[in-house]
Formats: sequence, C-alpha cells, structure tokens
Amino acid sequence: MSETARLTVDGKTFELPIVVGSEGERAIDISRLRRQTGLVTLDPGFVNTANCRSAITFVDGERGVLRYRGIPVEQLAEHSTFVETTYLLINGRLPTQEQLNQFSVLLNDHSMVHEDMRAFFEHYPRSAHPMGILSSMVNALRAFYPKIPERSQEEEINITVTRLLSKVRTMAAMSYKIFRGHRVVLPRHDLTYAANFLNMMFDSPVRPYIIDEEAVTALNIFWILHADHEQNCSTSAVRLVGSARVNLYAAISAGICALWGPLHGGANQAVVEMLNQIHEAGGDLEPFLARARDRNDPFRLMGFGHRVYKTYDPRGRIMKEVCHRILGKITRKDPLLEIAQRLEEVALKDPYFIDHNLYPNIDFYSGILLRALGIPLNMFTVMFAIGRLPGWISQWKESFEDPDWKISRPRQIYVGPQKQDYVPMKDR
Ligand code: ACO
Repeated sequence: MSETARLTVDGKTFELPIVVGSEGERAIDISRLRRQTGLVTLDPGFVNTANCRSAITFVDGERGVLRYRGIPVEQLAEHSTFVETTYLLINGRLPTQEQLNQFSVLLNDHSMVHEDMRAFFEHYPRSAHPMGILSSMVNALRAFYPKIPERSQEEEINITVTRLLSKVRTMAAMSYKIFRGHRVVLPRHDLTYAANFLNMMFDSPVRPYIIDEEAVTALNIFWILHADHEQNCSTSAVRLVGSARVNLYAAISAGICALWGPLHGGANQAVVEMLNQIHEAGGDLEPFLARARDRNDPFRLMGFGHRVYKTYDPRGRIMKEVCHRILGKITRKDPLLEIAQRLEEVALKDPYFIDHNLYPNIDFYSGILLRALGIPLNMFTVMFAIGRLPGWISQWKESFEDPDWKISRPRQIYVGPQKQDYVPMKDR
C-alpha cells in the first residue's frame, strides 16, 4: 500500500497520496485537493511546489549534487563536450560515435542564418541589450522557417531543435559583429561547435583568429555547466508558455526573456559589474558586505545565494578551477579575480552569510571566465542562454510528450475589494 499524508479540515480528514522520486524525494500529491476539499494551496515563488515529474536533471541542494540523466556534472565537465551533453539531455542517453557524428553534421548543416534576418539586427538601436535582440530573433525564426505540413510532428520537432541549437549560436556571434560594425563571420564546417563560436566572434580580416584549444575546452565546460538546472525560472517559463502548445521557438524566446533578469541569468553580468565597483572604490570589501547585510538596503552580493543550493554550488567549484587554469594560461592577471577570491573568503566566514546559507553560485566565477575569453560584458547572459538551450529544449520535449500534460494555470487567493458598483464619472 503506498504512503499517504492526512489533511484535516473542518473536522474532515482527507488522504493525500505521497509520490516518491527515484532519488527518494517525497511529494504530497495535491492535484485532486480542490476537487476533494474546495481548498487550494498558497506557495509564492513555488518554493515548495513540484510542477512536474522529470527524468532529466537531479539537483540536491543540501549536498551540492547536480546530475544530468544520472551522470554527475563533474564527470561531464571533465570528459564530455557541450554537443555530446546536449545529445544526452535531449535524447536521454549518451550517443554512440556514429550518433554523435550525425548530430554534429546536422548542427553544422543548420548553422547558417537566413540572410534577411540580418536586416533585423542592423535596425536595432546600438544600445539594445543582446538578450532582448536574441529573444525577438528566436521568436522571428518561426516566420523564416515555417512549419511544413508534409513533415511529421517528430520530423518537425527534430529539425526545430537542431535549428535552434545551431542558429542561436550563429545569431549570438552575428549580433556582436554587427554591434561592433564589423563584417559578419560565417560558420565553418571544419570547426567544432565551441571553436566555431569563438571564430565567428573573434576572427577578422585584419587579425585572423587562431583557435586556442584551452579556450575551446573552457567554453565547452562553461556551456556544460549551464546546460540544465531542472525547474529554474527560465525553464519554468519555457514549460509554462509551451503548455499553451505554442511553437518551440516562441517557448524558447520566453525562456530567454526570463533568463535576462539580474536575479537569474543576468547575475553573471551583475557580478562583474559589482566586482568592478569594488575595484574602482579601492578594493575595500566592508562597505559592500555591510550593505548586503542591511535588511533595509535592497543591495545583494551578486553571485551569492541560490534558491536550491544551501551549500557550495557544485558548478561554482568547477568554474573557479577553470577560471584559474584559463587566467594562468591565456590572459594577464585579472584584478577582479583577486577581489572575487577575497570576497568569497570573507563572506564564507561572515555570520550573516553563514546564517543565511549563502554560498557562491555558478555566476560568481563565470563572469571572470568569460572576461578571460574576451567575451564583452553585455554578451555574458547570451553565453548562458546558448548553454541553457539543451535544457530548455529537453524540458519542453518532456512536457510535450507527458501523458499528464495540462495547460499551466495556477490559482490565486483574491484579496481585492468585494463587489462594488460602478460609479459614473460625474459622481467620483
Ligand atoms: N546577498 C545578501 N543577502 C542575500 C542574498 C545575497 N546575494 N541572497 C539572499 N539573501 C538573503 C535575503 O535578503 C533574505 O534575508 P532575510 O531572510 O534576512 O530577509 C534571505 O537571504 C533569503 O533570500 P531570498 O531572496 O528569500 O532567497 P531566494 O531563494 O528567493 O533567492 C536568489 C535566491 C534570487 C538567487 C538570491 O540569493 C539572490 O538574489 N542572489 C543574488 C543574485 C544571484 O546571484 N543570482 C544568481 C542565481 S544562480 C542562477 O540563476 C544561475
């Protein structure tokens, strides 16, 4: 007999099933609660609410564990590539060599962007944030690549997935080149996914880009670490928008918008801006720590804290190592790395941060790595978006194929005025 929880309301007791996940997580199934009791639950920010069953990513925030399809992210960062990890997330298993080769060829075949899309880029104001541009470009892809009725649904999904993975990377590099007023560099068939991106970003007729394998490895790790993180804000946005059965481009575009926020993907940019401020203010950490501790001050130490991790973010640990390796090999010393290390050291011993379980998250070191790779500050969140694409796509696919699928439509507790009559303008 499966376990249940009991809820007593108005003298009546209701049995609620307990659902157990493959890692022993337990959840009270309240899907029939309103029908049985007339009650709904209130959970701002979905802090206690599971929106779905998912077989993609496992996170244990107390122990600092992150696994994609059961494989620890540390192993993937060490042995895999972003393309292989993408295949794993979307298809549920590691590819054979042949499958990986075929997948890479498909990504290559779809890497060009419709020439007319260039006009879009060129007419955006120079000050536009690349995340805003990217989300509208991704939405516009549906218009440039419409659904073909002769294609089966499976074929349509597969081609859309490949287009997104390949073209978003091209569009990101293209937007950077156009923003700088430089000639767009096209993708090359002989380069791997990450090497192609770096080449499209940095190659120029006057200074050909020489592929740096160390930078390629670092970028692969950066993207692997960002590839999925179960039901975070942007993934939930993709699932929620996708639940209305909108096309995949539109759902991903919604995810990009959610990721843009400084409390989510925008944090990597915010961290570097904060470290810069500390640097420019002479490097004294205390005024910043004091503001972070002050409940009346909205300032937060960017790159610290996480909704799920109440210990060190496992991705942060790997990112820190990669940062040191890359900074040691491909660039000069970065004063911001030194400030970040000091800040981490001090904050981890500070009673406020200890009491609030605030540890560095993935964004704390990722911005420094991106700086070292030469990525401009306003492109940081775009880099995160490219990395998170496989996660969004696999979560969208899972929800699309879910036999328990329902359009997302939360309830509310209405606290506005009770019924009142309309007052004509002359009487107000
Ligand atoms: N600096 C100072 N105090 C903090 C911080 C921080 N970075 N983060 C949380 N707190 C404090 C809050 O003030 C609050 O204190 P109180 O209980 O005394 O009022 C307490 O910790 C809990 O904070 P919440 O906002 O309720 O925690 P929540 O889980 O909702 O937020 C979040 C998580 C948004 C990540 C938060 O820690 C934050 O704003 N961090 C800075 C931004 C950041 O780095 N975001 C990247 C997240 S990782 C990612 O998206 C990939």
